[in-house]
Amino acid sequence: MSIPVLTIDGPGGAGKGTVSRAVAKKLGWNYLDSGSIYRSLAIALQKQGINLANEFDIVKVAQAMDLEFDCGEEFSVKLNGTDITDQLALESTGNIASIIAALPEVRRVLVQKQKAFKQMPGLVADGRDMGTVIFPEAEIKVFLTASAAKRAARRYKQLIEKGIDANLCTIINEIEERDRRDMERKIAPLVMASDAFYIDSSEMTINSVIEEVLNLIH
Ligand code: C5P
Repeated sequence: MSIPVLTIDGPGGAGKGTVSRAVAKKLGWNYLDSGSIYRSLAIALQKQGINLANEFDIVKVAQAMDLEFDCGEEFSVKLNGTDITDQLALESTGNIASIIAALPEVRRVLVQKQKAFKQMPGLVADGRDMGTVIFPEAEIKVFLTASAAKRAARRYKQLIEKGIDANLCTIINEIEERDRRDMERKIAPLVMASDAFYIDSSEMTINSVIEEVLNLIH
């Protein structure tokens, strides 16, 4: 029997993580936060002081990194045995992740780590290229977006709630810069799959987005 997959792609801050986690929980399916894999690599590189211009060393670190995900009640990630969950959400981590995510060899090395999440009884996969590159066979694909201003305001709120110092103007600039980098890169750019459902969450509550995605599945 084939394993059902729901992909939710879109730019950062559109609500993909919250929606994907809620839908996975409701269905009892596995959950892949693919951005956290790129973010974990960013943290590994920082820890080892690797120069971001050195593609060869970046790929070596990607190949060697051992990641353990706990997608239970509280999402957590261990990198080579050390809990790095708190560092994952930092804006600096996301920015480095988007720089290294443009390297073709890095993406190639990380493909298998992502495909391994496809297990019974099903998978909800969130990212940028889940429906276009990693799981093109997915039964249901969603492209979830929102205006840059709305996404920045949400990200700002999340960071403040986590006790992380943040500046709204800086976040808007960083979001626009990251969108540009993710959409313009040559390999696996952020684009909507031709068979995806488009949802703009700018004026929607997170609960209504979750409901809409669940309706698509049913
Ligand atoms: O979704 P998140 O903000 O955690 O992703 C961090 C960065 O990782 C993105 O800006 C993007 O460059 C990269 N990414 C990617 N492909 C994915 C998921 C994330 O290139 N499937």
